[in-house]
Amino acid sequence: MYGNFTIKNDPLILGLESSCDETAASVIRGRKILSNVIISSASEQAKYGGVVPEIASRAHTDAVNKAVTSAVKEAGLTIKDIDAVAVTYGAGLLGALLVGLSFAKSLAYTLNVPLIAVNHIRGHLAASYLFDETLEPPYITLLASGGHTAILHTQSYTKFKVLGATSDDAAGEAFDKVARILSLPYPGGPNVQRLAEQGKPSIAFPQALVKNSREMQFSYSGLKTAVLNYCHNAAQRGEEINHCDVACSFQHSAIDPLVKKTVESAQKLGVNTVTAGGGVIANGYLRQTLKCACDKAGLKLVLPEKIYCTDNAAMIAAEGLIQYKAGNFAPLNINAKAQIPLT
Ligand code: KG4
Ligand code: ZN
Repeated sequence: MYGNFTIKNDPLILGLESSCDETAASVIRGRKILSNVIISSASEQAKYGGVVPEIASRAHTDAVNKAVTSAVKEAGLTIKDIDAVAVTYGAGLLGALLVGLSFAKSLAYTLNVPLIAVNHIRGHLAASYLFDETLEPPYITLLASGGHTAILHTQSYTKFKVLGATSDDAAGEAFDKVARILSLPYPGGPNVQRLAEQGKPSIAFPQALVKNSREMQFSYSGLKTAVLNYCHNAAQRGEEINHCDVACSFQHSAIDPLVKKTVESAQKLGVNTVTAGGGVIANGYLRQTLKCACDKAGLKLVLPEKIYCTDNAAMIAAEGLIQYKAGNFAPLNINAKAQIPLT
């Protein structure tokens, strides 16, 4: 009979993530990462210039058992030691999510341990807990991924308020689109960064911020169009474009407003700690400017290591730990969700 769980103080949580093109498994004990395995199908997806859902699902099916087995082994454990299974149930590609979710259900049932259903974005937000044992709410979070861009006021472990968000594209999406304009391969973000590192911010692209708005609002579609027009017009005039300068100028316009508004939000609310999460937080320029801005403002910054900013399962286990402590367990008939609102 499934149920009747003993709740432990420092549980061993297995995290499982399969929402996009990474099959990831990780074990944490309390806030300590014991293992972090990521099997990516990105190189396969790169042939098609982006993620093909069917390929992603098949790749997860191939990799899920290997990822979990390796994560448990790397942690120096056996599967029977696991106290709870935390798995991404959304948002993401349905077929991809179902592979991880079905695997996690079977595992939780067989081991008779709680199943914890994790919202992928909450996982990104929780990653910071793994990098500072003392971190606790309240704090300000900069969230920037392929699907979301927002500044949040995290008020408790389970409650946050959105202070500002993008009104159109997400920051990661803009990086990926600019990569395509510059004929850079998938995944776009890291490739734009690489080019930007060799360039200068010499082109005046618009900042990714809605001006004169009463609310704090970001906007990436105008910036993306400005980059597209700049490249298109130069090509029509037969002028050569300095791709490194385009990437560098874009990167400044995309990231500077995020950093500025994050620090301003903390100052305005009198909160002295800042965290960040999501794939774009792996960007070197963002990390550097956010660190400088926080130092200057006397704010404490907790940044997950780069590999824990892009998709991974340790962050899913970290959010799993919060849900475990709240006794928030999922039924075995829980379904995957392609979309989950931020709040
Ligand atoms: O969080 P994530 O791995 O997946 C989502 O949940 O969306 O974020 C992926 C996004 C992609 O758009 C990718 O281009 C971007 O994060 N990204 C970066 C960098 N690494 C990943 N953007 C800028 N610079 C990077 N180094
Ligand atoms: Zn993600």
